[in-house]
Amino acid sequence: MNLDVALCPAELAGVDLTGRAAVVIDVLRATTTVTAALESGAAAVIPHATLDECRGHARREPGVLLGGERGGIKPADFDLGNSPGEYTPEKVGGKRIAFSTTNGTRALLACRGAESVLLGCLNNRAATAERLADLEADTLLVCSAKQGRPNLEDTLCAGLLVERLRELVVGMQVTDRARLSLELAHALPPTPDNLARSDHGRLMLELGLRSDIQRCAELDVRSTVGRWTGGEIII
Ligand code: MLT
Repeated sequence: MNLDVALCPAELAGVDLTGRAAVVIDVLRATTTVTAALESGAAAVIPHATLDECRGHARREPGVLLGGERGGIKPADFDLGNSPGEYTPEKVGGKRIAFSTTNGTRALLACRGAESVLLGCLNNRAATAERLADLEADTLLVCSAKQGRPNLEDTLCAGLLVERLRELVVGMQVTDRARLSLELAHALPPTPDNLARSDHGRLMLELGLRSDIQRCAELDVRSTVGRWTGGEIII
């Protein structure tokens, strides 16, 4: 098994994902939120590149919930924003959710072509690593990044996935980018304080979202791992 990390989606350009597994990471907050939705019993989350695509989806499928953000804020006509705590069993149990966020869903859509696409975050880090070890495929960890530039929180999460996979998979080959992520995660663990000092963490503090940062920083607290079929994200 070979393990590599794309620090931002632009690094996918020209990369052939055929036969490989990809893990999309958006710690703050898209993949954390989708993981929470699925763990709360949502039937499926359907990613869209734009908010208007979500609205169009709702016109075709009455009953679908709209979830997501722009600039970290819930669109006024959406049912749900991008806070994992909003996605409770009462609100999303059994529901399908059309979902769009600024960076996370776009990174996910950029992974089209991979054999398997999983959604990773700090909350489900260990469960994601176990799923990858079972797949035994060459793997690319894809950081959603922020406006196309590498960010701290996704890189740290990728590093902790590298750490756990090294424990699980004997003889795994890792690239320099994977090793750099791991070294960074050891130097700067993803505590709530460290996440809050990131570029996106600071924006979230301005928006009054400190409790989201705390929740997104929780390591290995969920066993749910979303899988994108190319259409829907399901368990
Ligand atoms: C994104 O996809 O850019 C993020 O999830 C933004 C956010 O914190 O809502």
